[in-house]
Amino acid sequence: MREDVIGRANVEDTPELTAYYKELAGLEAGALWTVANDIEPWQPNSSSIPVLWRYADMREPVMRSLELVTPEKAGRRVIYLNNPGRRQVSAAVGWLYSGLQVMRPGERASAHAHSASALRFIIEGEGAYTIVDGHKFNLTARDLVLTPNGTWHEHGVEAHGTPCIWQDGLDIPFVNAMEANFYRVHPNLRQEITHPVEDTSKTWGNPALRPAAAHWAKGYSPLFKYEWSATYESLRRFAEVDPGSAFDGNLMNYVNPTTGGPVMQTLGASMQLIRPGQHTHAHRHTGSVIYQVALGTGYSIINGQRFDWRERDIFCVPSWSWHEHGNASLSDDVCLFSFHDLPVISNLGLYREEAYEDNGGFQRCG
Ligand SMILES: [Fe+2]
Ligand SMILES: [Fe+2]
Repeated sequence: MREDVIGRANVEDTPELTAYYKELAGLEAGALWTVANDIEPWQPNSSSIPVLWRYADMREPVMRSLELVTPEKAGRRVIYLNNPGRRQVSAAVGWLYSGLQVMRPGERASAHAHSASALRFIIEGEGAYTIVDGHKFNLTARDLVLTPNGTWHEHGVEAHGTPCIWQDGLDIPFVNAMEANFYRVHPNLRQEITHPVEDTSKTWGNPALRPAAAHWAKGYSPLFKYEWSATYESLRRFAEVDPGSAFDGNLMNYVNPTTGGPVMQTLGASMQLIRPGQHTHAHRHTGSVIYQVALGTGYSIINGQRFDWRERDIFCVPSWSWHEHGNASLSDDVCLFSFHDLPVISNLGLYREEAYEDNGGFQRCG
């Protein structure tokens, strides 16, 4: 792609140059000016498009997979979310993978480990649990649980439970892009529970208190499970005394309690409260984000396109896309759960953010 701008590649084809390019191709090489404007755009040029996955549309086909495959044969019974611009890498947006996993009471998937980091946000059902490196966690709707890079983990639903659906979020496409992904199946297919149930919550989940003798040096949070009730309570308390950000409302990050940093090295997770009637100003930043509506009803405007969502819907905001969120209710809170690659973006010095200046800070919907 030629650009008629000083400093950018703008070389017209001639028979001589065409022959030259062919010669270079034969040497497994090329002339930079033929690709420079494409590989170095003026600003991030995401191939992902904004997508809303309505739970009302997704739930029935997800439930139908219960009849179609067993966890034994499928490994993991998951319907993944595939961005039309990211089909080749099975990403929901950017370099992030996401899917909806369903299990019925009494089922237990085989234990495994992978280099990709994972988290899951519970959508519905009773009796779900996850075991991570011998720690067992019972999970209910809107709980967040981590299964970080390299940990043995497995999921199941207790026999007395109900069918459970949760959203998986992983950095699989990113780890594949880095050509660094390994996968292992546990030699016994199941792991032993070697710690008291919920022990990490009782050790690391106490507000502003940390066991004096406890030591943790791994690159991810030792807490693993983040309960919805405490998360929502914290957001409410924060919103009582702080107006929050014009762009994000009252946004809090789930953190590694030993560092105050993100829950895992490659994936971050956040929960934000949008007050009744609030409509945030638009901004854009580098990094890809996948949202799940944890509470309430509202809308987001992403690159000028309006998406109306309700509880349990999932949507994505591609890198460097304008976005703003609105709470459609004048009485009820909206809470948006999200996970993202901002730890990677920030740690590599790639974070950029910009406010939308036009039209009082709100996008015009096309
Ligand atoms: Fe996994
Ligand atoms: Fe944002």
